[in-house]
Amino acid sequence: LLRGVLTARAAGLTSAVAGAADARVVVATALIDDGRLLAARRTRPEALAGRWELPGGSVEAGEDEADAVVRECKEELGADVEPCGRLGTDLPIDAGLLRVHLARLRPGSAPPQPLDHSALRWVSASELDALPWVDADRAVLHDLRAALP
Ligand code: C5P
Repeated sequence: LLRGVLTARAAGLTSAVAGAADARVVVATALIDDGRLLAARRTRPEALAGRWELPGGSVEAGEDEADAVVRECKEELGADVEPCGRLGTDLPIDAGLLRVHLARLRPGSAPPQPLDHSALRWVSASELDALPWVDADRAVLHDLRAALP
């Protein structure tokens, strides 16, 4: 048993190191305001259109992940957000790795608008499950529920 555990841990460490060096990182924003989470409905690609996600996108070369969260929320939502920590673990996606960051609206920010999505919705913990989330984001629902009142 011990040997199995050690082998599994070594394999995990190797893939974590390789992942950190090679994988493209996509950040997703768990924007929470007044006890509810912002969900955004995707418009593309066709296979994901109509599914809901946490807004975000690819981290640019040399960019800090938290800065990418701020930039993506400004571009996609027209909102000024303040990242406040990671949520959950790295999630494998086709494009690389998805990392969820918690965030709140900065005082004085404009309310989020669907500049890049077909709809936005503020959802409470009890409403999370019913939305048709994209697969990667569904995997973080358990952690999201714990972050909501
Ligand atoms: O939004 P964008 O197309 O830039 O996202 C890049 C990739 O990350 C896509 O494959 C998308 O499915 C994935 N993604 C995700 N969950 C998010 C944001 C992006 O799975 N919340």
